[in-house]
Amino acid sequence: MKILGILASHQEHGLNAQMLDQVLENVDSDVETETIYLENYDITPHKYHEKNPVLDDLTQKLSESDVWVFAAPTYWRELTGVLKNFFDCMRPKFVYFKENGDTIPGQFKNKHYLSITSCYVSPLENFLTGVTDESFKTIDRVMTAAGVIKVGEIVLPGTFGMKEIPYNKKKLCQKYAKKISVKKRKDDSTVKRYIQLFFMIAVMALITMGIQIPLRPWVSGNFWLNYISFTVIFFVLLACILHFVTFVKHRRR
Ligand SMILES: Cc1cc2nc3c(=O)[nH]c(=O)nc-3n(C[C@H](O)[C@H](O)[C@H](O)COP(=O)(O)O)c2cc1C
Repeated sequence: MKILGILASHQEHGLNAQMLDQVLENVDSDVETETIYLENYDITPHKYHEKNPVLDDLTQKLSESDVWVFAAPTYWRELTGVLKNFFDCMRPKFVYFKENGDTIPGQFKNKHYLSITSCYVSPLENFLTGVTDESFKTIDRVMTAAGVIKVGEIVLPGTFGMKEIPYNKKKLCQKYAKKISVKKRKDDSTVKRYIQLFFMIAVMALITMGIQIPLRPWVSGNFWLNYISFTVIFFVLLACILHFVTFVKHRRR
């Protein structure tokens, strides 16, 4: 088993590098690791009929690894340019094109990835405004297209003036190191998702019935009014919860 760290910061020994090191140094002893610093590569798009040894080399490294760990700070509330450029240039390797232009996952399907990012803004501001969300979202978008499965996220806000990663983040990196050391099945979160869905529905049904109690004088005894009020309340709650899990689900602290 091999884990590849992909560092995409302007700083080779900055905070993202430290978090990546902390993950890679704490994987199980039988797991091989390698780190690539993207700034060291002259990554350019693949031109038709021309060889691109840099992309071939990077493709080889991605191929040999079971888990990829992306470590990229947030720049301008977005993913770093160097990682975005890497994703753009690797597109023909990440996805195959169907005749109608749709994409399907390419050769890396069912590998796994972990994302790491950081930002200057404080934990509270990041929690409220989600400065680092876009970095995670861009990685997720590309990896979803490539069929690569997410293991988790690590975020470090409040980095202004920080020289060393704090103890709690070291611990979190170590926790993920253990998690990614184990060879995963293709997608082992299906059961987890069904359990989450069950509890979401159970809680929403409970809240909906709770909200209906004060409406009893108007709706009780009338099946259709009862049914319509339940459906409307349940729908609003479902829309809110889906918005939360799809847009606000990224780790911010
Ligand atoms: C070009 C650039 C843009 C940045 N934009 C933001 C930003 O929009 N919001 C923010 O909170 N921090 C921003 N930062 C701060 C970085 O996120 C911060 O320097 C990062 O934590 C450093 O990580 P490193 O030590 O791994 O390089 C920016 C830094 C640079 C160099």
